[in-house]
Amino acid sequence: MRQKNFAVIRHSAPITILAIESSCDDTSAAVVRDGQVLSNCVANQEAHRQYGGVVPEVASRAHLANIVPVVDLALFQAGIDKKSITAVAFTRGPGLMGSLVVGTSFAKAFALSHGLPLIEVNHMQAHVLAHFTESPRPEFPFLCLTVSGGHTQIVRVVDYSDMEVIGETLDDAAGEAFDKAGKMMGLGYPAGPEIDRLARSGNPRFEFPEPAVPGLNFSFSGLKTSILYFLRDQTALKPGFVDENLADICASVQQSIVRILLKKLRKAAKQTGIWQIALAGGVSANSGLRTALGVLGEKEGWQTYIPAFDYCTDNAAMIGIAGYYKYLRGEFCGQDAAPYARGFTG
Ligand code: KG4
Ligand code: ZN
Repeated sequence: MRQKNFAVIRHSAPITILAIESSCDDTSAAVVRDGQVLSNCVANQEAHRQYGGVVPEVASRAHLANIVPVVDLALFQAGIDKKSITAVAFTRGPGLMGSLVVGTSFAKAFALSHGLPLIEVNHMQAHVLAHFTESPRPEFPFLCLTVSGGHTQIVRVVDYSDMEVIGETLDDAAGEAFDKAGKMMGLGYPAGPEIDRLARSGNPRFEFPEPAVPGLNFSFSGLKTSILYFLRDQTALKPGFVDENLADICASVQQSIVRILLKKLRKAAKQTGIWQIALAGGVSANSGLRTALGVLGEKEGWQTYIPAFDYCTDNAAMIGIAGYYKYLRGEFCGQDAAPYARGFTG
């Protein structure tokens, strides 16, 4: 059930969106007023570290414990009262089902009890729209390389709602490749930020083969296997190999992942003739990727955009921004909106 044209009711008052994000292991709430982020609070779930990855059941329980305090904090930091909220936006999918159910149910209950319209947001589209949290903002059309723990996509963005996935991973996501490689080296979860940190003092002197994937799609499973065999063989020759060469291995792994990503991005820019290029998703926090995009962009004559660090990883501000543009279009959903685990639209 879709409900349209709620927007006409309050068109002269400020549009104040309470946004909820709970798709994976971060519980986040934000307040966005007239397209400006007033607050953006994130509770990270430390509980997963001991398991070396996100445990869905643990994530859902932590969302339940976190959601009310995080929303209260977001309202407090924004300096607004519940009565001045105009609509509630929430991540409907994709993500972990149990986690999504917590945010969706909270959003529905909040909207129902305050008589507010509900806006469902697609998490991957919101990562793209994270570019509209601050200036400078990309001009349409632009290409967005969205790289997270669960997704790797090249998206052709025509406007706030018209987006097409023109390339994506056939197996692991880029963030997953970082996390799995880190696990093989004995690093904690999530390993991406740790590899990034260690790579800064390393020399990328180890070469891993590049995958031969046609078109604009990606594959990281071959890289994962070659890292596994490399570490196994080197450790058999010298047991302390990983510890003694950790920074160089991290720099080499990071360089390989960045190369795979930028090769396809360059191809996509050539194919589409679009030179406005953006990065989004948790892996866009990676300093090697950010620097390499800057260098490539300069060489290719691209205009490049990278969101501020807080808007790269999962956050509710991007959900609020996506919700704001849906509000302007009068796109609301009913209380029967159920979460979905997969998909790019919604
Ligand atoms: O977008 P995100 O916060 O959550 C998902 O929707 O998946 O992305 C999380 C992913 C994890 O795989 C994490 O290791 C990776 O982003 N990540 C990084 C960095 N910061 C986060 N990977 C490489 N370098 C980083 N600095
Ligand atoms: Zn994400």
